[in-house]
Amino acid sequence: MAVLIALLVLNGRLSAALTSVVSKGFQMLVSLFHLRKSIDPLLESISENCYTRGLKINAVNTIDIKNMTVNVSEQPLLSDINISLRRGESYAVIGGIGVGKSTLLKTLVTLHDDYRGSIIYNSLYDAKTIDRHAFSDCVVYLDMNSTFIKGSVFHNFYIRGVRHKERIIQLVRSVFSSVNIDYEFLFKTDISQIPMSSGQRRKLMLYMTINEYKSLIILDEALINLSPEEIMAIRKYIAKLSPQAILLIATHDRMISNMMPNVIKVDNNTAKLIRSSTVKVITN
Ligand SMILES: Nc1ncnc2c1ncn2[C@@H]1O[C@H](COP(=O)(O)OP(=O)(O)O)[C@@H](O)[C@H]1O
Ligand SMILES: [Mg+2]
Repeated sequence: MAVLIALLVLNGRLSAALTSVVSKGFQMLVSLFHLRKSIDPLLESISENCYTRGLKINAVNTIDIKNMTVNVSEQPLLSDINISLRRGESYAVIGGIGVGKSTLLKTLVTLHDDYRGSIIYNSLYDAKTIDRHAFSDCVVYLDMNSTFIKGSVFHNFYIRGVRHKERIIQLVRSVFSSVNIDYEFLFKTDISQIPMSSGQRRKLMLYMTINEYKSLIILDEALINLSPEEIMAIRKYIAKLSPQAILLIATHDRMISNMMPNVIKVDNNTAKLIRSSTVKVITN
């Protein structure tokens, strides 16, 4: 009898425990379901905002600027711009200090968006509708303020898309010809701790940023402190790696603008193509 009672009690406890496990499990599933329901829209909106907003463009072949007016501080700075840029062509962007060269170039790569008129990539994509994330993979934009990120020399190359170790070593050797490029230099030392001239800094920045996937290369005063020979070497490097890229160089240096086949002049509150390798330009 006692055994029977003991068995009944045990059975009761077992079934109570089982019921509790089942109901806790059910509660957990319900909570997970609600959690997923609330997280999913959040994840979707993050992915939409970061990656899928706009049209994907993997290479820039042409840029058509049509009836563009660029404003700064809500005032028009440049007006009536109609210029077409073609793949494989190099353009000097010239003009006095403060005329709007940098603002124009920033507008072309959607870093400045207070403008009217249109910028059309590849005859199809309006700058206002493209996916910035994908676009940035095919664009180089360097100016005097471009800086390294925290980390080693190798890390700085890698993060910008130059990943082949032998190529990195070769480029670093060409910039630091009198320094022993060892493991410590390349991988361990933070780049900010490496002594270098402003010319070496500029060359390193250019070599880190330019690669064969870039089809629009904008160098806004990014070649100052470099000798004519060094500038020629950089141009050859770009021509070898990205022969089809559109190259725009904003400069005050006559030597650089003279060697460019196309020249865009910014003055009198507008920008005009004043020399072209492909189109006869009428200037007045
Ligand atoms: N973020 C800004 N806020 C206010 N004014 C600006 C800004 N950026 C540029 N400007 C003004 O726009 C004009 C053109 O500047 P910028 O494009 O840098 O000329 P450039 O590159 O030809 O020297 C200047 O008068 C400058 O003061
Ligand atoms: Mg400028």
